[in-house]
Amino acid sequence: MASVPSLASTLHQRIADALSAALPEAGAADPLLRRSDRADFQANGMLALAKKLKGNPRELAAKVVESLPVGEGLLMQEIEVSGPGFLNITVSDKAITETLAARAADDRLGVPFKEHPGTTVIDWAQPNVAKEMHVGHLRNTVIGNSVVRLLEFTGEKVVSRHHIGDWGTQFGMLIQYLIEHPHELDHKAAEDGPAVSGEEAMSNLNRLYKASRALFDADGEFKTRARRRVVDLQAGDPETIALWQKFVDESKIYFYSVFGKLDVEIRDEDIVGESGYNDMLAETCRMLEESGVAVRSEGALCVFFDDVKGPDGNPVPLIVQKSDGGFGYAATDLSAIRDRVFNLKADTLLYVVDVRQSLHFKMVFETARRAGWLTDDVKAVQLGFGTVLGKDGKPFKTREGETVRLVDLLDEAIGRATDVVREKAEKVGLSEQEIVENGEYVGIGAVKYADLSTSAARDYKFDLDQMVSLNGDTSVYLQYAYARIRSIVRRAGEAKPVAHPELSLAPAERALGLHLDQFAATVAEAAGEYAPHKLAGYLYQLASFYTTFYDQCQVLSEDNAPELVENRLFLCDLTARTLREGMALLGIRTPERL
Ligand code: ARG
Repeated sequence: MASVPSLASTLHQRIADALSAALPEAGAADPLLRRSDRADFQANGMLALAKKLKGNPRELAAKVVESLPVGEGLLMQEIEVSGPGFLNITVSDKAITETLAARAADDRLGVPFKEHPGTTVIDWAQPNVAKEMHVGHLRNTVIGNSVVRLLEFTGEKVVSRHHIGDWGTQFGMLIQYLIEHPHELDHKAAEDGPAVSGEEAMSNLNRLYKASRALFDADGEFKTRARRRVVDLQAGDPETIALWQKFVDESKIYFYSVFGKLDVEIRDEDIVGESGYNDMLAETCRMLEESGVAVRSEGALCVFFDDVKGPDGNPVPLIVQKSDGGFGYAATDLSAIRDRVFNLKADTLLYVVDVRQSLHFKMVFETARRAGWLTDDVKAVQLGFGTVLGKDGKPFKTREGETVRLVDLLDEAIGRATDVVREKAEKVGLSEQEIVENGEYVGIGAVKYADLSTSAARDYKFDLDQMVSLNGDTSVYLQYAYARIRSIVRRAGEAKPVAHPELSLAPAERALGLHLDQFAATVAEAAGEYAPHKLAGYLYQLASFYTTFYDQCQVLSEDNAPELVENRLFLCDLTARTLREGMALLGIRTPERL
């Protein structure tokens, strides 16, 4: 981890620096320092170093130990050489408290900015127009939102792109139907009273979608008219475009209502759907064809890959333009790359998209590389996520075998969470309004946390009972830990959180303190690897360390000396702030009272 220039470094960094200084002849050798159960830290770097210097690792380790300042009140209280030449290091209580005090003095809790921030364009939260949002869209929204927050927190410039599915042949059918049934998308609410709700918007679209599909399948003449309408749409015929826009607007009302429920902020200017690249498609194809990256094959413009073959052994190309002249998903994504690299000046392109689209992205990235649009200076990454499964371990479906509507799931989660909150509400003295609000924070938090606490690539089971459980690795557990700490700090009255490095620490205080010290490194790692689950795991452990501390160390006891109360309040307060900041980076709220 990079050192924190303006602040006291972490214990980890301070020890690593001391070890390097003790062995100047080693140059920049990594001491391979890590947390350990035997002592606080273990350094294993002597082994590789001895090999390099052609010496004996134990002797080298002993020499290092001799030259290091060790003792009561210093950074390192004890060092012993163990095994073939490991160093077991125990830090002093004073150093722990002092280091934490420096973190507490910083609004960012000591999390450094990246040394070389760049520009990341991240493609996330991309539902499809005139279609219901499902659990897959939950994932690309929740994971994307957390990655954006993590990256921004480390100083990266982040541009969001919501590549919504707002183009394609199905719009010919929808628009033609609307022309023949002109009042289907009108709603009373638009003229009098409040604007149409997201639910209504979706139910209108759904009804229209089903009706037009039925007509399309049953009536050959309608089918022909619908196909002709696609041509009008692609040609930019104003009447057709105006109707298409109606579908997009209606869908956006619905999308925003779901994003709102998910407590995720989406900015309108970041919604640049497939249609946003229409003007670039022909040029993209021309460039690919002229450079020979793409070739005509049976009328279609294709890119071939040595390692992409179908079950019959024949190559499966990426089709950039179909033989009828139509452009598809690949042409749009290739044009989007040009836009993001050359106009938005991205040096990282990140795509939060289902792993089932991995082959598509592999081919698209490779094509863009061959075309020279992606170079060594631009990194393209698909942050692929796995499937949401039902309790039976199969892809999540309703009993009727239909896709589960995201809204229904979220409502159910909020309902369950509100019950949980209500049960404890009287004791805490919550008003009805607070119960409702907390129910939303807890319910939505539960859904997000379940999604973010396993690595994105893995499938996970959607199990509401487990998600809203008060025990175990859930957001509710973390939210309660936070609220409990806040209540202690409130009850402390006159006593304030103040660090007292002169006090010795109980084992549970040390364990909590050492874990708190790792927050900055964890955030840097989670951001660098696009891995919110690493932060989630850290926060869960933090809450567990806190629980042990709380059981073993009385905070507000009459028997405690005032300094002890203050120092314990200091640990409480820093834990609460770390939980709050960490949860915010996951997009989860932490109510003050729960
Ligand atoms: N709309 C697509 C879906 O619902 C996801 C789009 C992903 N982004 C992209 N640039 N292709 O699956």
